[in-house]
Amino acid sequence: MTTSALVQLFYLAAALLFIASLKGLGRAATARRGLFMAEFGMLLAIVGTLLQQQIVSYEWILVGIVVGTAIGTPMGLYIPMTKMPERIALSHAFGGLAVGLVGVAEYLRLGSAINTMQIIAIGAEVLFGGLTLTGSLMAFGKLQGILPGRPVVYPLQNVTNLALLAASLALVGWLVANPSAHVVFYAVVGIGLLLGVLLVIPIGGADMPVVICLLNSYAGLAAAATGFAIDNNVLIICGALDGGSGLILSLMMSKAMNRSFVNVIFGAFGKVADTGPAGSASGPAPNVGSIEDAVEVMRAARTLIVVPGYGMAVSQAQHAVRELANVLAAGGCEVRYAIHPVAGRMPGHMNVLLAEANIPYELLYDLDQINDDFQATDVVLIVGANDVVNPAAKTNPKSPIYGMPVFHAELAKTAIVLKRSLNPGFAGIENDLFVKPNAMLVLGDAKRTLMAFTAELKGGGH
Ligand code: TAP
Repeated sequence: MTTSALVQLFYLAAALLFIASLKGLGRAATARRGLFMAEFGMLLAIVGTLLQQQIVSYEWILVGIVVGTAIGTPMGLYIPMTKMPERIALSHAFGGLAVGLVGVAEYLRLGSAINTMQIIAIGAEVLFGGLTLTGSLMAFGKLQGILPGRPVVYPLQNVTNLALLAASLALVGWLVANPSAHVVFYAVVGIGLLLGVLLVIPIGGADMPVVICLLNSYAGLAAAATGFAIDNNVLIICGALDGGSGLILSLMMSKAMNRSFVNVIFGAFGKVADTGPAGSASGPAPNVGSIEDAVEVMRAARTLIVVPGYGMAVSQAQHAVRELANVLAAGGCEVRYAIHPVAGRMPGHMNVLLAEANIPYELLYDLDQINDDFQATDVVLIVGANDVVNPAAKTNPKSPIYGMPVFHAELAKTAIVLKRSLNPGFAGIENDLFVKPNAMLVLGDAKRTLMAFTAELKGGGH
């Protein structure tokens, strides 16, 4: 077998593993296996690439592997789950940078020998690569608090973005006619970099989940374009899968937040209405309860729904949740879990944490499956969630989260809310639920509060 046939065989196996891995990732029970398949597929793709005869120097590749491993390993080991979106944004940025650099290098290497197909592919590559690089850095900055989380808007925003996009297409057309116009080529790179900034800057922090999925899609498209530019099948397949799945995830996230997808792509999205206050700053004071008060309510409950949120992740309270649920269930209370698609800080955040605590998948319910059950429920236990149970999303058209589907937690007989203070959640707005007569706030770190609940329930002979 020739080396080139062997390389193609490795690539084929890698592509099949990527497809199988996506299928595995579709269900929580098979997700881990799916991930292993993707990792193995990536290993085969790398080995296949290293067998290529065009490789000039293995030494530099080794240096790259050592540097990459030295940076990637601590990132994987030490970055906490709560910082995962920031880490993903950075990974996308590096991906965009790599793709952009390959595009520029290919353009320079091919010189006047470049054909029409190659210049179109390289143009798309540097445009999407640049856009992914700066867009992801912007998303990272917003999530990390380095940049303002609120939407930054200015007149003619969409017109400017569309004009830049049209200009970049026109410039790629120019390059087809005159591939050696270096200035035009670097102008396309520049527009890509600028578009990344301009597309993400008008998007509010609360809407970042959709943007991150979309950047994932752009990174995939850039990788697919690279595949066409350097004639690499596995990059084309892998990029198309990444681009497609990122797009589907963006659509699903938009639907979960009741946002228009067109607005996401063209920015000016999640804009806070400037026509008045979003919350109820001067409303009644919340009803703050003690551990004993809350336990008394839970002792009498026959049905309880746990709504986990970002605070559960911060406090790492998932094991304490399970222990409390076990005690309640042993006392005859039916305990279920309501999982909001944007609870926490990344898609599937709550599912991962609850799975880590061995909470059975069948007790986890999506928004659509459980939202009608709140009104017939004795207690809803809100563990570090805020925006996903904020009734303002249903009742206050001025609220930045208006229209986002939220749990009807206020309809339960009692809503017990675990948080540390009266501070708002990610969207930075007040929550009317906390001042409802049927709500009880138990202030403190969620894990400690849950452990105190369990101890009190056990001590009280539940
Ligand atoms: P948030 O609205 O962010 O509220 C989290 C709450 O947890 C806060 O009110 C905070 O109050 C409390 N908390 C923090 N640490 C705690 C601790 N140690 N113990 C107890 N409570 C603690 O969370 P959510 O309801 O899950 O909503 C998610 C928000 O994030 C949405 O706005 C969503 O759009 C956004 N977002 C989501 C994603 C994805 S993909 N899921 C990505 C980016 C952004 P205290 O400070 O008073 O304790």
